[in-house]
Amino acid sequence: MKSTNKNLFPIFEDIIQRKDKENLLNQNSKVIWLTGMSGSGKTTIAKGLEKYLFSNGIMNQILDGDNIRVGLNKNLSFSEIDRTENIRRIAEVSKLFLNAGIVTINCFVSPLNNMRELAKEIIGKQDFIEIYVNTSLEKCKERDVKGLYKKALNGEIKNFTGIGSNYETPKNPDLEINTTDKSVNESIEELSKFILPKIKK
Ligand code: ADX
Repeated sequence: MKSTNKNLFPIFEDIIQRKDKENLLNQNSKVIWLTGMSGSGKTTIAKGLEKYLFSNGIMNQILDGDNIRVGLNKNLSFSEIDRTENIRRIAEVSKLFLNAGIVTINCFVSPLNNMRELAKEIIGKQDFIEIYVNTSLEKCKERDVKGLYKKALNGEIKNFTGIGSNYETPKNPDLEINTTDKSVNESIEELSKFILPKIKK
């Protein structure tokens, strides 16, 4: 989105550039965007990837829906408009990390195709790696780690993804991790092996 304010003077060019920061850190920065339903395993897998990248000398930062929604985005609900705003802001934040040479691992339900498209557009398609954490709704309900599916089914949470609100399957993710017949460690290993070559200089 272009600013229409004629009184702003952004300084994008005459500051130290992304490539210099990437060289300093000896890495290529990327945004690794994990999408999937609540309880699909995004955060668990992200934590494993975080450790793996860190132990391989990669500076990275997890950005997680539950964390961001108690801080930066605490004024946002789960309506479609607010979820879009949630994703827009987090994409802008990710871009700041990207330009600082730092890899982000983003864990957001980001349920609709147009939300993920918006994030990709803001971040830039060459730097946006979309990972679909595919866990069936049945499995997510069965796990119900946070007890939210039970609440949603009791009518205590409206607009809950998969119950009162839609999750659109990603059309063309860079990687799909089907967690149904994989252990957590296998999922982390699959993702880690896929990501490291894209980041390591
Ligand atoms: S998103 O749809 O806007 O991308 P986000 O990833 O930030 O969602 O937040 C999802 C997390 O918020 C879930 O993992 C869950 O813990 C919590 N949550 C609370 N209410 C809802 C809801 N109505 N739908 C989905 N997740 C919810």
